[in-house]
Amino acid sequence: MTSEAKRFIQGHTSVVPSVGVVLGSGLGAFADELTARTEIPYGDIPGWPHSTAVGHAGKLVVGRLGDLDVAVMAGRAHLYEGYTMREATYGVRVLQSIGVRSMVFTNAAGGINLALERGGLVLISDHINLQGTNPLVGPNDDSLGPRFPDMSEAYSCAYRAIAKAVAAELGITVGEGVYAAMLGPSYETPAEIRYLRTIGADVVGMSTVPEVIVANHMGMKCLGISCVTNMAAGILPQKINHEEVLETGAMVRDTLVRFLKALLPRLSA
Ligand code: HPA
Repeated sequence: MTSEAKRFIQGHTSVVPSVGVVLGSGLGAFADELTARTEIPYGDIPGWPHSTAVGHAGKLVVGRLGDLDVAVMAGRAHLYEGYTMREATYGVRVLQSIGVRSMVFTNAAGGINLALERGGLVLISDHINLQGTNPLVGPNDDSLGPRFPDMSEAYSCAYRAIAKAVAAELGITVGEGVYAAMLGPSYETPAEIRYLRTIGADVVGMSTVPEVIVANHMGMKCLGISCVTNMAAGILPQKINHEEVLETGAMVRDTLVRFLKALLPRLSA
């Protein structure tokens, strides 16, 4: 199902990436850091859904970060856009097919834990899937992974330890917490945020979880980084809007770029 996309990408670049990065809403700047860069609009890649969300560039960027070959997805397909689970996870499947074994997922998220602040970065320790479905529903492709994949370390402990060490070296403050995935596109109600806090969520968003499930299915190691673009509904006496989310993404852009540049070369498969 991904073989045409694989052939297409490999026909456009000789770079063979081992690490993949997905950049979330307003967080696309890192892609510009790659050298020997090949940029391919999603719309050009066979089978690849193209994102319609504001703040999402919608391109695959393959290139080098020092000695490391990297594939960056600048923009992702969300379920709330009407994409199916299969479409929302297609990019990760394709990256795996071209050799990627380590994935870093970034996203914009609402802060539920009151210790978090707007603009903070959170390493995802685990997730709660509240999107009502799972990307692995349907016939299993045994050549990719098992029918019932284990998810007890969906976000690599080793990668998180490396990320913490790198953050400390750079003087970047990072938190750690559980990501709850909602379908969206409406933001949560204050009651839903109280519920999410009660069940153990620290941040909330509308992405990442399908991709992480698929990546785990194929045995890829995952790191998740949430950017707290806003405090979740009902915490502050103000409404949530997408502009604030994008604005905060722009605020943390340089920090995130610095973090990813130092971090990626340290992630071994
Ligand atoms: N809720 C859900 N998704 C989000 C939020 C939020 O508050 N902020 C950014 N993405």
